[in-house]
Amino acid sequence: MALDRYAALHASTPQGKGDGRPTADQVLQDQDLVGNHWRDKVILIAGGTAGLGAESARVLHKTGAKTFIMGRDGAKGQRVAKDILAANPDYPPVDVIEMDHNSLQSVRDGAAEFLKRSGGKLNVLMTNAGVVASPVRKTKDGFEAVFGVNYLAPFLLVQLLQPALVASTTPAFHSRLVVVSSAGHRASNIDPGNYNLEEDGYNSSKAYAQSKTATILMANEFERRYGGRGVHGLSLNPGVIMGMEISRGLPGTSASRREQYYKMEPLLAKWEKSVEQGAATQVWASVAKELEGKGGLYLDDVQVAQEAEDAGQYCLPGWKQWIWDEKVAARLWKDSLNMVGLPDEN
Ligand SMILES: NC(=O)c1ccc[n+]([C@@H]2O[C@H](COP(=O)([O-])OP(=O)(O)OC[C@H]3O[C@@H](n4cnc5c(N)ncnc54)[C@H](OP(=O)(O)O)[C@@H]3O)[C@@H](O)[C@H]2O)c1
Repeated sequence: MALDRYAALHASTPQGKGDGRPTADQVLQDQDLVGNHWRDKVILIAGGTAGLGAESARVLHKTGAKTFIMGRDGAKGQRVAKDILAANPDYPPVDVIEMDHNSLQSVRDGAAEFLKRSGGKLNVLMTNAGVVASPVRKTKDGFEAVFGVNYLAPFLLVQLLQPALVASTTPAFHSRLVVVSSAGHRASNIDPGNYNLEEDGYNSSKAYAQSKTATILMANEFERRYGGRGVHGLSLNPGVIMGMEISRGLPGTSASRREQYYKMEPLLAKWEKSVEQGAATQVWASVAKELEGKGGLYLDDVQVAQEAEDAGQYCLPGWKQWIWDEKVAARLWKDSLNMVGLPDEN
């Protein structure tokens, strides 16, 4: 299958959510993966208790893979797991693991619990959890909270689970790290030495942008470190999906925020996606045969993204040049190991 098979559907001007752009379900059908084809595989979605993560879990569960979701609210996770299983009762139940990205100890505990329950098997790790604004300024470990939740906790999770990804890789299906980032990365590069945004005053938009740039740099550096061992790192932007819980921490109501976004981004009404469409790129990254053995790519609109033409309009696809900076990525990786208290073994 061609890497650009969905390009034409996105090239014609979108007509708003629910238009002809593919859903995650459509992607799975196109891959001919609905059924029990993935009974031998294990998928873990961090941040699988709501929105795009829950939708990804619902769709990927249809492959027959053993599916795990992680979230900070165990009861909420159980409700999501129950609903998913109810739609496909003959498939393995969805397992829920509690893990709060605000605490590195919680990440260590969650990773250990996952390895115990999965028997050390992991074919696809999706890091999807995210916040745009945090109710607290610092994580339990003292890091700026948006950086900590969106980037540092997933970074630690990746370190703790990379041996399982390496051990589970096969010639037929190389294990995958799928990192859900955002077009918001285009608002700011990272600032090594000021990860906690303590200099020049705090700026919540910069915090989100920096954290999302960091996740892409992580996926690219992961590819450089693990690609040769048959494990690949992909990052992506799901697009703009309005009305999600992720906006909770922002000022205003859901309706007033929507109005404000439409004013700021005139193209949004046509480019916004439904949740089902928003989850398509991350499900494609997880399963697509045309991505087999590939890594270090940034995806958008269910295809490999191009450089952004209008970096200011966040509903449009594309990347900003700084995500390809290998020196900054290597420095961030080393600094992050230091921040989470792990040695650099490479
Ligand atoms: N929606 C968009 O337009 C958009 C655009 C670009 C990128 N994204 C990215 O897509 C991803 C999913 O976003 P979404 O719109 O689906 O948001 P969402 O509905 O709010 O889901 C976010 C997920 O992250 C989890 N999470 C948040 N804080 C956490 C913490 N401290 N510990 C553990 N889990 C935590 C949430 O858990 P709870 O259920 O406990 O809240 C939930 O499962 C995010 O990384 C976001 O940055 C979204």
